[in-house]
Amino acid sequence: MEIVPLGPGFAAELRGVTLTEIAADDAAYAAARAAFEEHSVLVFRGQDVTDEVQLAFSRHFGPPEVTKVGSLGTGTHFVILSTIGENGKVVPPDHRLALRSKANQLWHTDSSFKRVPALASVLSARIIPTRGGETEYISTRLTFERLDPALHKKLENSFAWHDYSHSRGQIAPDLANPEERAALPPQCWGLVWKNPANGRSAIYLASHAYAIEGMEQVAGRKLIDELMDAATAPGTSYVHNWRSGDVVMWDNRATMHRGRPWPAHEPRLMVRTTISATEADGLGTMCPPSRQAAE
Ligand SMILES: [Fe+2]
Repeated sequence: MEIVPLGPGFAAELRGVTLTEIAADDAAYAAARAAFEEHSVLVFRGQDVTDEVQLAFSRHFGPPEVTKVGSLGTGTHFVILSTIGENGKVVPPDHRLALRSKANQLWHTDSSFKRVPALASVLSARIIPTRGGETEYISTRLTFERLDPALHKKLENSFAWHDYSHSRGQIAPDLANPEERAALPPQCWGLVWKNPANGRSAIYLASHAYAIEGMEQVAGRKLIDELMDAATAPGTSYVHNWRSGDVVMWDNRATMHRGRPWPAHEPRLMVRTTISATEADGLGTMCPPSRQAAE
């Protein structure tokens, strides 16, 4: 297995190994896991990927999420990201599927609005447009390390509120439907996620974040905006141009990502599996003290 660095200080391609080999071989898994902890975004090219292969690979990293209500793939371990309607044609721009892909173009980390946030996401390209449709990543670990050290302590003791309907509301007021709102109440998480494998801290934020616990609304919003701006500063991203056979895996604790637009009339189909974070991934330290005491 060869590790080829790709981005500005994070992201790497793993060459000479397949998802199937990692799923079947403990030593290959250990090497891939170490690369994941170190590089935050892993790219695999030329994979012969099926749903079964993707899920078997994902399971090694932790428990796979069950897809939430209101998504394509509800109740399975797969999230289908598609703009192809039931009639097989690309949906119009005001269709729910098109608006949802637009919401994915806001900087975010997956599942910060869920009761159990995500360790990692695994995304495979099934149908890709002729141009555009890239996924862009930034390292919130490098963001944290770039910040004035005097800020670190304050951020380590701060907690942010995340709500799915907040990010969807930025695209269309009713994009999160009543069923989703009921199933996904706001969640509060630490602003900094420390990786237990290497002790490195990362800013934990997303388009879903709307308030800082205990902070007046305007001041909290300002802090979130400043951190989002710092995280997404020009020149800090890795842009993944999808090719057929690509699979990309990322650490939701230490990155943010966004989809990039593509010609609206062209189909795009991606399949995501998502791995829930566990205590071993540092989850316990992310809960606000009130919840830690209650559980
Ligand atoms: Fe995402």
